[in-house]
Amino acid sequence: MQITHQKSFPCADAGSIYCPCYLAATGDCVLCSQFQGRDFCDCQWCGVCVYQLDRPTGDPPPGRQERAGTVTARRELAPDSVLITIATHRLTAESWSAPGTFVFLKKSGYPQAFYAPVSLLETEITGDRLALTALIEALGPKTRSIAEAARVDVRGPYWNGLFGRRSLDIARGTRVLILARGPGQGAALNVARYVAPTEAEITMVIDPARAGAPLFLAETRATGARVLVGRLDPPLPGDAADRGLNIENLIRETAPGLVVSCGADWLHHRVGQTMERVGLRAPMVFTNNRALCCGEGVCGSCLLFTSDGEPIRTCKADLGADDWRRMRGEFRGG
Ligand SMILES: Cc1cc2nc3c(=O)[nH]c(=O)nc-3n(C[C@H](O)[C@H](O)[C@H](O)COP(=O)(O)OP(=O)(O)OC[C@H]3O[C@@H](n4cnc5c(N)ncnc54)[C@H](O)[C@@H]3O)c2cc1C
Ligand code: FES
Repeated sequence: MQITHQKSFPCADAGSIYCPCYLAATGDCVLCSQFQGRDFCDCQWCGVCVYQLDRPTGDPPPGRQERAGTVTARRELAPDSVLITIATHRLTAESWSAPGTFVFLKKSGYPQAFYAPVSLLETEITGDRLALTALIEALGPKTRSIAEAARVDVRGPYWNGLFGRRSLDIARGTRVLILARGPGQGAALNVARYVAPTEAEITMVIDPARAGAPLFLAETRATGARVLVGRLDPPLPGDAADRGLNIENLIRETAPGLVVSCGADWLHHRVGQTMERVGLRAPMVFTNNRALCCGEGVCGSCLLFTSDGEPIRTCKADLGADDWRRMRGEFRGG
């Protein structure tokens, strides 16, 4: 039975050179109700109409291309946490530096199945040359092989690494509370650097997790952020009390106008639930932790489902915290 799409979500690719994508042709566009086969406009998109952009020739749209990269610098920050810089080249004039930008990386010569999504921490563009810096936490076959590689293949850029990302653009002068845990410290630093010039008042809470110590303490302080370091442990079964930094106290004390959660899904849940409990109605930005494979809305590995069973492609759809909570995905710990 064919799925009838009932909902439109902001799409990370909307208005980019990758839009409209294959999903427009298959009737599965994340954003456009007309491409979804409905007979009215329901997208609330303020950019150029995606439906109008459709390629009249029917040619397949250009997908993200793969390019070869050389690892030019490698710095071990902690056991299993390495910062790598990759020299590669730019093929088009797309954006590489906004928070939430990520690429798929694999060790050169390894099969496609080894591509892992990795967030970009820093990007330097010189003409058509790109230097991409990323934090790799070596966990399993994909990340371990990337961490030791001299040459890598790069596919990207992709932009949906942070849900609710647009709220960062209205952070001017706001108190921003950023909670960063484990490899989320990279994404958190990127957010702090993005909002710092807007006179945002930043409090960054860092839980180093497996790394044992904060990975970017000096860099975070350089943004002007107030930094707190401690454990944001998940509660143990039967253990109602926080054993580390108390999220509720942090929220009450900072009274933020924007909350950013860079960690596992359990952290997002605890932050969201605590905001609800204390009655804080501020926007929440949070890392996308779904298993990403194609990044193009096609393979299905990242799907979440609405209460009506409609699949939502989270590699493209920018979910708000309420949408995300309502969907029935399984939530990973860690
Ligand atoms: C948008 C995004 C940005 C990320 N940025 C970084 C980063 O900057 N640095 C970093 O070290 N890691 C990052 N990750 C996580 C990284 O992609 C996974 O740790 C990696 O894919 C694990 O593969 P593995 O073979 O090394 O380990 P495995 O042993 O296969 O898996 C270890 C853990 O990673 C999860 N995982 C496995 N495959 C994927 C996948 N394709 N997508 C997402 N999670 C997966 C597993 O569920 C498991 O929890 C990011 C993930 C996403 C979704
Ligand atoms: S990663 Fe393939 S559909 Fe989202």
